[in-house]
Amino acid sequence: MKLVPLGNTGEQVSEFCLGTMMFGARCDEAEADRILSAALERGVTFVDTAAMYAAGGTEEILGRLLRGRRDRVFLATKVHRGLDSASILTSIDESLARLKTDAVDLYLLHWPLPGMRPVEIMAALAQVVAAGKTRYVGCSNFPAWLLAHCNAIAAEHGWPRLVNNQVAYNLFERGIEVEILPQAVAERIAITVYRPLAEGVLAGRYQVGGAFPAAARGETSGPAITWLAQHGASIARFNRYAAELGVAPATLALAWVRYSAGVTAPIVGASRLSQLEDTLAAFELDLTDRQYEDVTAIFATEVWEEGLQPFPGRKYNFPRLRRNLRLLG
Ligand SMILES: NC(=O)c1ccc[n+]([C@@H]2O[C@H](COP(=O)([O-])OP(=O)(O)OC[C@H]3O[C@@H](n4cnc5c(N)ncnc54)[C@H](OP(=O)(O)O)[C@@H]3O)[C@@H](O)[C@H]2O)c1
Repeated sequence: MKLVPLGNTGEQVSEFCLGTMMFGARCDEAEADRILSAALERGVTFVDTAAMYAAGGTEEILGRLLRGRRDRVFLATKVHRGLDSASILTSIDESLARLKTDAVDLYLLHWPLPGMRPVEIMAALAQVVAAGKTRYVGCSNFPAWLLAHCNAIAAEHGWPRLVNNQVAYNLFERGIEVEILPQAVAERIAITVYRPLAEGVLAGRYQVGGAFPAAARGETSGPAITWLAQHGASIARFNRYAAELGVAPATLALAWVRYSAGVTAPIVGASRLSQLEDTLAAFELDLTDRQYEDVTAIFATEVWEEGLQPFPGRKYNFPRLRRNLRLLG
């Protein structure tokens, strides 16, 4: 497993970041243990979690599973509550208790929220670092302008800056190419990518017009149903292209994400140990420029502007949130 620099921190992390959102949600603790153990065995050192996953249950599982091997992992978690100072300071203590550790390596603001106050937020994060509860701080789902604004405040006050933005990116959610990836390259901000397989839709399990495979996430996922309807023909062509290359669709989808010079590490989720092989294989597959262009063209998702699709019923509508002129309090 290749190690890569985490932005300009001087830290090296594995290029494969293990996503744990399914631990305690779609896989039990025993399977989570098998997934984590196999990933560590294969050289993975970077693990992502969040206080909200399984309502704290994922952090609790990780706390038990990392006993005796915490020092082998660069561990990231995310603020659970609001973004005011008291919420940030309480949330980190709750996460550390669940994770049974004195400190995480990276502490992320999970989403921007309307009315957020960047000076207060950056001051609170500085307190978390000063207390030794995290080594680095970062954000998730932040538009480029907001990250730059927060880091200007940090520079002005001599506070730790946001070193990482964790964002969605895959063959048909490409909004980050407009501002976030160029900013990351210019300012050496680490970009970790969630949803690289589009929740499994790019992993070859879903057939357009066919029934959902038993117990797949798509059964209950509004986005998966939307994506299949929107990109069905392209997904079928993509699956055929993967077969021609002799790789699994999940391998090809991840290889496409890691081709980008702006991407530090895809965050790869698994709900079963058997899924790890195909995803690990992606880290051995370097697409040629031609292959990258061919695969991109299959989806023809021209990128017009920053933003993701709005999904009805979702609590957070990222595109609207990013453009909200009342985002700052
Ligand atoms: N910051 C944020 O706002 C945010 C949001 C979402 C996620 N995340 C992080 O990113 C991680 C990854 O997110 P994600 O789970 O949505 O990403 P994903 O990698 O796009 O989807 C993972 C899903 O793909 C399927 N899959 C994985 N490997 C497969 C394989 N080899 N063959 C067939 N299917 C396969 C599984 O679906 P089934 O369960 O149906 O088998 C799995 O649950 C999370 O664990 C979390 O750490 C962060």
